[in-house]
Amino acid sequence: MLQKMVAVSLYVTGRLPSMYDDPLTFRPERWLRESRKDGEKPLAFSHLPFGFGPRMCIGRRVAELEMQLLISQMLQRFDLEPCDQPPPDLLQLVLTRPKDPVKVKLVDRQPATT
Ligand code: HEM
Repeated sequence: MLQKMVAVSLYVTGRLPSMYDDPLTFRPERWLRESRKDGEKPLAFSHLPFGFGPRMCIGRRVAELEMQLLISQMLQRFDLEPCDQPPPDLLQLVLTRPKDPVKVKLVDRQPATT
């Protein structure tokens, strides 16, 4: 049986003007429904890091929950500050990652005063 493999580069699709308005601008709020502009391109199928359909990632919910828990617990304890470092070069492997470690300073958050 002839089998074909199709690989989709999320790095490339994430920068396509046909998929995103103003794709090269860092605008994370584009993912929030309430901050979307009128007429902005729909995002529903523009980013599929876990695949889609019958063979999509079975661990998606676990992975997303772990990431949300880790990030929310870190942000409750620390403010994250960038270290004085030039933007890293990227390595295009199966996943895109920075070539060198990205340094971030974790500063203890002050307890909220009432
Ligand atoms: C950020 C974390 C993860 C990413 C980005 C990811 C991504 C993917 C992708 C792209 C596929 C292939 C989907 C396809 O062929 O259409 C896949 C398959 C799979 N993933 Fe994940 N995954 C992640 C975490 C996990 C975790 C935590 C588990 C287990 C708890 C898991 C278990 C699986 C399994 C079993 C498959 C094969 C599903 C099948 O072929 O029916 N993954 N994953």
